[in-house]
Amino acid sequence: MMLNRNISRRQVLRTGAAFTAISALSPARIAMAGPTDEPFVLRAASGQAALRPAPYGPTDVWSYNGSIPGPEIRVRQGDRIRVLAQNGLDEGTTVHWHGIRTPNAMDGVPFLTQDPISAGSDFLYEFDALDAGTFWYHPHHRSSEQVGRGLSGPLIVEETDPIRVDRDMTWMLDDWRMSPDGQIVDDFGSQADAMHGGRIGNSVTINGQIPERISVRAGERIRLRLINAANARIFALNFGTFAPVIVALDGQPVAPHAPEGDIVLIGPAMRVDLVIDMTGKPGDAAFVTDIFYQGLEYRLVDLVYAPDRLRDTVPDWPMDLQPNPLADPDMASAERHQIVFNGGMMGQMMMGNGMRSMMDQMREGNIWFINGKAATGPIKEPLLVLPQGTSHVFEMDNRTAWHHPIHFHGHSFRVISRNGQPTRYREWQDTVMMAPEERVEIAFVADNPGDWMFHCHILEHQAAGMMGVVRVASGSTKI
Ligand code: C2O
Ligand code: CU
Repeated sequence: MMLNRNISRRQVLRTGAAFTAISALSPARIAMAGPTDEPFVLRAASGQAALRPAPYGPTDVWSYNGSIPGPEIRVRQGDRIRVLAQNGLDEGTTVHWHGIRTPNAMDGVPFLTQDPISAGSDFLYEFDALDAGTFWYHPHHRSSEQVGRGLSGPLIVEETDPIRVDRDMTWMLDDWRMSPDGQIVDDFGSQADAMHGGRIGNSVTINGQIPERISVRAGERIRLRLINAANARIFALNFGTFAPVIVALDGQPVAPHAPEGDIVLIGPAMRVDLVIDMTGKPGDAAFVTDIFYQGLEYRLVDLVYAPDRLRDTVPDWPMDLQPNPLADPDMASAERHQIVFNGGMMGQMMMGNGMRSMMDQMREGNIWFINGKAATGPIKEPLLVLPQGTSHVFEMDNRTAWHHPIHFHGHSFRVISRNGQPTRYREWQDTVMMAPEERVEIAFVADNPGDWMFHCHILEHQAAGMMGVVRVASGSTKI
């Protein structure tokens, strides 16, 4: 498949490169108590970043506060988050707090929950951190280009009573389409990307750097928070000799379990929290590989054991995170809704009835469809209207030849089944991966009033129609 024939990061970037250790993010701790506290200032602007190790020069990017990724915002569960978003770009932008259950007006969706923040102006976002967990933020305006040029950052909400680990690390994974001279290729909005798997790049970074190795210690227990900030790249991480345990998905605690087939699958916008014990010996080396795209497997990063040992035994500390205050859907009364995804290359849109109108649609950039509709401009009509406080099941059917990470704003949902098989670990997610032809059922209580985006988080699919709005209608609202 043409688009998947990416050059590996090493082909582009390895030559002559010295070892670089990936940097830990320095958190911007912005615990805020009262409305009198100064908000944290988050400024989007163009700049430069050293994505590639010396001797390569910097890459032109768009970034928050001059860094890739943006500052790690860290608060405690229950804190009020106040962020003044300043727009130093030459175009409008917004900030969306991915996975956070904000009031609708704070959700950062242009033309739906707010006007874009115009160039040179600002917007105050303010909401409570209801749920502990691993979240992130990014623009929701012209996302394919704005996120693709570097605008995104981690948002960590710490538990009031966290599980014990030796180190809490965040790896923000990103993927860049870089030219041989190390600049971002300017082909945003390409129809080929939109019809296939999205804008998949050729250079993978962890915390804004092409990773080489990280240093670990024998006996150490690490909590690793993985965030996929890529436009389109899906990661299937194999931790080799390690035995990672998944303790949270999309920020929400899950029954601790080993990843299926020893692969940690993480699509765009998804997060996975792992607990990993460093069971090797001092001086050992181990590595993490990404095997998602067949024939394009590559070594993501090496873990190198320091010469000294931290402890001799594997800790027996509990790994169960305290649940967040999420409303459990009532499956008996839940209303069921069918949601069918169509479109793209090699899907049903290329065959059978309605092909002609589909082809016309494609010429207009409508490539992906939810229940027969492609949404490419600001959305007018909601796909569904759900009365506030009621339980719902979405029976989602991926009738395409592609993977889609499907995201719903303002809520976390239970993932109930895949292809009719019940899931096993009480998964709560805000972005669920659907494999080609897969059927997935999700369930939730529509408890957050407002108009919420429901879309594929492959940003080029979203831009080419794969989105809709679900309205949670409060109290007396009759439609
Ligand atoms: Cu991460 Cu609608 O977004
Ligand atoms: Cu998609």
